[in-house]
Amino acid sequence: METEDKLILITGASGFLGRPVVNELHKKGYSNLFTPRSRTYDLTNPAHIKRLFETEVPEKVIHLAANAGGIGYNLAHPAELLDDNLLMGTHLLRESMLNGVEKFVGIGTICSYPRDTPVPFREENLWKGYPEETNAPYGLAKKMLLVQSQAYRDQFGFNAIHLLPVNLYGPRDRGFQEEERAHVIPDMIRKFQKARDGLDAKVTLFGDGSPTREFLYVEDAAEGIVSAMENYNGRAPVNLGSGKEISIRDLAYKIKNLVGYYGKIEWDTSKPNGQPRRCLDTTLAEREFGFKAKTGFDEGLDKTLRWYRTQLT
Ligand SMILES: NC(=O)c1ccc[n+]([C@@H]2O[C@H](COP(=O)([O-])OP(=O)(O)OC[C@H]3O[C@@H](n4cnc5c(N)ncnc54)[C@H](OP(=O)(O)O)[C@@H]3O)[C@@H](O)[C@H]2O)c1
Repeated sequence: METEDKLILITGASGFLGRPVVNELHKKGYSNLFTPRSRTYDLTNPAHIKRLFETEVPEKVIHLAANAGGIGYNLAHPAELLDDNLLMGTHLLRESMLNGVEKFVGIGTICSYPRDTPVPFREENLWKGYPEETNAPYGLAKKMLLVQSQAYRDQFGFNAIHLLPVNLYGPRDRGFQEEERAHVIPDMIRKFQKARDGLDAKVTLFGDGSPTREFLYVEDAAEGIVSAMENYNGRAPVNLGSGKEISIRDLAYKIKNLVGYYGKIEWDTSKPNGQPRRCLDTTLAEREFGFKAKTGFDEGLDKTLRWYRTQLT
């Protein structure tokens, strides 16, 4: 196992995915970690990124920082999602290359895939169409990080890799605290719990329940990212997922039962469904760096709900 004490910069280390990534690095023996916050280094500001590299020159970078949220947040903030993610990615990757960083791990998103990608989504289909309109500004901003990584690899031999995680879920999801940003799982857990506790008369959910989604437990995602940092040096983007698809309607009934809410669900069909189907082909990650999700969905949901309930008391 490689545990040489090279400095690793982790952007977004305080976030939902960032914390498990830092834990995973510690577990594997990496102790020389640089985890700056946005209040000190605002990565949308190129001058802050320059200052960051004047302070510390890391040998590896894991770029997790992002402005992100669920479908409602994407609809309300398309311009900021495009600008912030593009700016952070472009300048950080450029300064990493100019400052001789050895390896850059870019974190993309399933939202970069075309709206009607054949299921399961294979990496070679990433460019065969435009993303779902509701998340296109976010998905395309992140996709530019892939283009930049490949351009730097081709021209300068820079070792930048790009991972495409599916929707994540687990404890400490920012969407539990910030309703406006919530992805579907924290949104449902919060709504069902409130209705179960008699604080709301019914539960209203976005769309008609027909789309499908895939979910990866956040600690599994962290393992995959660290394993890719250690073992993958390829040009091709790599999916990070569980490979299991579930409809939003089935997900709603699963969470309803888990929470113990016995009332009504109302589907608000005036709200968009988002991408019709989402499910990744995960064979490349398994072949290239041995990644396979290990947390079962019921187990992961249970851990997430237990964590959420401890926050209520
Ligand atoms: N969550 C998902 O379902 C999911 C799925 C696929 C891909 N991803 C990707 O995974 C990564 C992590 O997502 P997450 O869910 O962990 O996000 P998150 O909980 O919202 O955390 C965002 C992180 O980014 C940092 N950040 C935001 N704006 C910044 C700025 N201007 N300058 C510096 N740092 C900034 C925040 O730092 P401060 O706390 O210091 O502000 C925070 O640590 C993102 O790249 C996201 O696109 C997430």
